[in-house]
Amino acid sequence: VKTIGVLTSGGDAPGMNAAIRAVVRQAITKGLEVKGIKRGYAGLLQEEIIDMHAQDVSDIIQRGGTILQTARCMDFTTPEGQQKGAEICKKHGIDGVVVIGGDGSFKGAQKLAEHGINTIGLPGTIDLDIASTEYTIGFDTAVNTAMEAIDKVRDTSTSHERCSIIEVMGRGAGYIALWCGIANGAEDILLPEKYNYDEQMIVNHIIENRKRGKKHHIIINAEGIGHSTSMAKRIEAATGVETRATILGHMQRGGSPTCKDRVYASTMGAKAVDLLLEGKTNRVVGYRHGEFVDFDIDEALAMQKGIPEYQWEICRNLSK
Ligand code: F6P
Repeated sequence: VKTIGVLTSGGDAPGMNAAIRAVVRQAITKGLEVKGIKRGYAGLLQEEIIDMHAQDVSDIIQRGGTILQTARCMDFTTPEGQQKGAEICKKHGIDGVVVIGGDGSFKGAQKLAEHGINTIGLPGTIDLDIASTEYTIGFDTAVNTAMEAIDKVRDTSTSHERCSIIEVMGRGAGYIALWCGIANGAEDILLPEKYNYDEQMIVNHIIENRKRGKKHHIIINAEGIGHSTSMAKRIEAATGVETRATILGHMQRGGSPTCKDRVYASTMGAKAVDLLLEGKTNRVVGYRHGEFVDFDIDEALAMQKGIPEYQWEICRNLSK
């Protein structure tokens, strides 16, 4: 491998810049050239490719978002698009590509590998929904952002003696909701993986808590369940307790990455370059049992993960 390309794809996540910086600087340290591919696979197909030098990644480790921009690209899901992408890499002398994104982005990396481009995927998503890894770039920052926002909603909720339904991101996954549920001491947590949504149970819970003198009732609702506004109206009608919905939305994707996201993203970025130098391809980097590891992309994509049972079991016990 002589020239490495790096791209970010799918939803952005805080820490992606730290990963880009690490790819660029580790590669340059090891005598390689680096090209930045802008706007993910969409930019690859448009040949939006720039040379990257060590100074091009100065002053970005602390920034949210991605300096390379990102996109979700339907054209790259077709065989024609994938072949064109590989040809463009070859035309620009790119023989290894580091793809920072989620499962969908890894499928693209798998296809580039099939066309002879060495590829390494780095898990970049706030959702934590990649089965091959216990850590994804951006989750730590996003969950801390959400936690702080929920603390603020709780202040006003308590003052007004309201029930607050706070909807957090995560697409079909409930990790942000579970973590915030525990960290914010929510009275109820609604997760798509544990979909047992029984509105009457929530209504009873609110009424019981009121009788016990509780001044607020925080419900963390995962995006995968959604409908927070209509849920708030129904709950208010059934309980007589004023109920408001707050959808945290894209604020969870922005902001300066936490220390953990900077350090893990940097380590993963450097590891991706080292794997390419070892001649590896079609691999994804992950973090498991305290170590940075790598898996075959096909194996990684076939893995399954669920909500940690014990944490799910205890969360209700902890909020009395
Ligand atoms: O995958 C990250 C994520 O923020 C999800 O939590 C959410 O469902 C989705 O992206 C939102 O996508 P968009 O920014 O395209 O609306």
